[in-house]
Amino acid sequence: MSSASAPGKIILFGEHAVVYGRPALAVPVTQVHANVEILDSPKNGIWIDAPDIDLHAELKSLPSDHPLATVIHKFFPHPNPPPAGRGTTGEGIEIKIISTIPVASGLGSGAAVSVALIRALSSYLGQSMTNEQVNALAYEIEKSHHGTPSGIDNTVITYAKPVFFIKGHPIETFKVGRPFTIVIGDTGISALTKEAVGDVRVLWDADKARWEKKFDEVGEIAKQAKERIENGEWELIGDLMNQNHALLQEMTVSSPELDRLVNGARKAGALGAKLSGGGRGGNMIAMVEPEKAEAVSGSLKEAGAKNTIITTINP
Ligand code: PMV
Repeated sequence: MSSASAPGKIILFGEHAVVYGRPALAVPVTQVHANVEILDSPKNGIWIDAPDIDLHAELKSLPSDHPLATVIHKFFPHPNPPPAGRGTTGEGIEIKIISTIPVASGLGSGAAVSVALIRALSSYLGQSMTNEQVNALAYEIEKSHHGTPSGIDNTVITYAKPVFFIKGHPIETFKVGRPFTIVIGDTGISALTKEAVGDVRVLWDADKARWEKKFDEVGEIAKQAKERIENGEWELIGDLMNQNHALLQEMTVSSPELDRLVNGARKAGALGAKLSGGGRGGNMIAMVEPEKAEAVSGSLKEAGAKNTIITTINP
């Protein structure tokens, strides 16, 4: 048997502008994860069992552009005959995928499943892969399904460290000077990042000068936030979160539900709050003093959050 798991993630600053080359900050969220196990099976063929998405199927019955099939075909380009003889018990394999990361909610579920699946398959086949190789393959998968992703999701999830991400630049992790606490609130609304990214592109196409300036503002916010986090001055990043949220509202990627949660968090004493990820639905984040985390979480639920997570980002 081989197994691997990968964490979820949140974008602290810079979503959308990151697609246009500005920096963004993201951190792993270890309370949620995707887990993949590969077992020898007495059945012939490659079988996939992913109860969270209600999928129990043989690989060859999936369309070749199915996200899971795309990854598996990289390792088994000729799945027939199946990888017989690897195990002692039978002829084929069963790939079990369990994820506690909500789908299409900005917590990186797709990238986490890809990364865990890549690591489990490479370990099963005895092909060791570096983080760089895992990340490159996960990015290729993201591209085949999301159009023009920046690559921030697969990067933060592969390295499982805070990253200061600039598209096309070498990976840069950053230090957390002092632990800080974030409350994550889920609107429960699934939203397609690809659509929000497409709508921002329409705005940008119509007035590039205006949006390039806005993206510069977002990039500056991300840079300042990185410096403050590194210095342990997390109390000072709440205001930057509020500014970033206002810019995301201008990009039309917030929603009434997200705004309600963001306002609920601020009223309950959060230092700042913003949507996180593609927007339109999915999750928002609030920066809090640790002793206020429970109160903010309660207030998010009152404001309509379907679920909340309190997470501490450690040095
Ligand atoms: O919705 P998520 O968590 O996958 O985040 C997408 C972040 C965007 O900046 C909106 C898109 C991207 O590819 O970076």
